[in-house]
Amino acid sequence: MAFPDSFITELVDRSDIVDVVSGYVRLTKRSGANLFGLCPFHSEKTPSFSVAPDKQIYHCFGCGKGGGVINFIMEIENLSFPEAVEFLARRAGIPVPEQSNDRDSQRRARMLNLNRDAARFFYEQLSTPEGQRAGEYMARRRIAPATARQFGLGFAPNSWDSLLHAMERLGYSPRELFEAGLVRQGKKGGFYDAFRDRLMFPVIDVRGNVIGFSGRILGDGEPKYLNSPETLVFNKSRNLFALNLAKKSKSGYIILSEGNIDVVSLHQAGFDSAVASLGTSLTPEQARLLSRYTDQVVLAYDSDAAGVKAAQRAITILEKLDLRVKVLRMSGAKDPDELIQTRGADAFRNLIEASENQVDYRLRAVTDKYDLSVDEQKVEFLKEATDLVARLPGPVERQVYAMRVASLSGIPTDAVTAEVERRRKRLLRSARQENERRQSRPERQAQPAEKELHYADAASAAAEEGLIRLLYLDPDLGRNPALPEAEAFSSPALGHIYAAIRSRLQQGEAVSTALLSETLSQQEMSLLIRLLQKPERLAQGEQALQDYIEKIRQQKELAAGNADLNALAASLRERKGYKGKDV
Ligand code: GTP
Ligand code: MN
Repeated sequence: MAFPDSFITELVDRSDIVDVVSGYVRLTKRSGANLFGLCPFHSEKTPSFSVAPDKQIYHCFGCGKGGGVINFIMEIENLSFPEAVEFLARRAGIPVPEQSNDRDSQRRARMLNLNRDAARFFYEQLSTPEGQRAGEYMARRRIAPATARQFGLGFAPNSWDSLLHAMERLGYSPRELFEAGLVRQGKKGGFYDAFRDRLMFPVIDVRGNVIGFSGRILGDGEPKYLNSPETLVFNKSRNLFALNLAKKSKSGYIILSEGNIDVVSLHQAGFDSAVASLGTSLTPEQARLLSRYTDQVVLAYDSDAAGVKAAQRAITILEKLDLRVKVLRMSGAKDPDELIQTRGADAFRNLIEASENQVDYRLRAVTDKYDLSVDEQKVEFLKEATDLVARLPGPVERQVYAMRVASLSGIPTDAVTAEVERRRKRLLRSARQENERRQSRPERQAQPAEKELHYADAASAAAEEGLIRLLYLDPDLGRNPALPEAEAFSSPALGHIYAAIRSRLQQGEAVSTALLSETLSQQEMSLLIRLLQKPERLAQGEQALQDYIEKIRQQKELAAGNADLNALAASLRERKGYKGKDV
């Protein structure tokens, strides 16, 4: 179902990579023509993700990922090639020439429709006589009808098949409902509604698709929440409840809480940037998702021990992405909802304003762990607290917190400061050593970042890379009759890239990252982008080509020869009756 080249080329022309990437990454101009930002594909504090507007490619110097605009969308939206093409076409307002018949994307689209229809069904149940109970429950929780509408809340009736039948009437099969997690299958093979007698929260992604549901029991009972299972369209660890609403907030921060009810209640009270993770602790993917929309996160977790622990884990994850983190301490209320219900929105607002940054919060957590009137515990406290302070990047910050540690523990400031600096030196030393260790392995650096792509023969691979680079940059060289077959390549990945480029050139077709996106895997694309960055002797293209071909041939012979020698040695050993190690 390949798209015509002309369509792909036009699509890429009309999807400027800087525009597209800017929707996900904050890019700033730095040296030369390239733009830089924090890589969306791995955790980092200093930007190593670059976008080249002239070449229309991205490349991360940290994790090695790279490609053109289509690859970027495939990777960041987790889409297949045709889906990414459709995504970009919609964005650019270009009609997709021929309807994609990619099975997965059709199933995905249908499941999203089903979810939307199910959400509508649940919503409509609110106005049935039975649905009154859900209305009463919401009234008790002080969820206004307008809020319920904004979130698309609904009611799953206390029945085994009302959703099943309603969706069947709309043309969906029980199997489809099953795959969407809306019905379950009984022992005898029959299907029954998965959500019964529950207040329904649709989970909506940032593109506005209903991807799953969370259902709360009306009142007390177990389990309190039932969530959709993982499906083709629902991945709990990559989505956040209400991010579809929060992403439009002008508040400058995102409030991360634990419960769906907390989120609803916060929005209703005017905090339109509240989100919640979907019943799991915050994942790195969710944190990355947040970092696309904000640089500051306010943690409003439950005040119980589990909430405190979850907050600490979340801080560690968020800090890695350079997000500023504030932590709310809700004394006197178990969660944001209760705080707002009992003390009002202003009380919550005051809390945000007075909330601690993560250093205060962590220092307090360390302090709470120890009884500082006991000498041994004081020593342990000092170790842990100075370690925390030693990791702070700014000298002024370190000084301020060293003083705080001193006043908390009663140890003289000078002594604390000295301990902090001693620890800092040690941290820096081991970081430097680690760095040197990494630098001193040049052969490693010539290797692709991905283990699976490891070059068995680095010398041949360097020539193979060169050959690919030349053909890509100077397609006229593709007419050279001496070009080897892809089988001559030592690296299967490079061989595949080479074959893809060569076959296009032989058919008189153009070569570009976009046109290769369909044939190459993401890993191969990253590898191609990376090898294209290395310098090439384009002025003496023919000569360079000959040299590379010769090098590949030599290495292949050498490898074959070595294999022969090994075989020879082995057979000699056998004949002479050598056994084992002293050969
Ligand atoms: P209220 O107690 O009514 O205020 O509910 P809440 O929305 O604040 O939820 P709570 O703080 O109890 O739980 C936080 C989140 O954890 C919920 O939003 C769910 O996503 C998840 N969760 C809670 N209980 C369960 C459960 O029994 N099963 C599953 N799978 N998830 C749960
Ligand atoms: Mn709660």
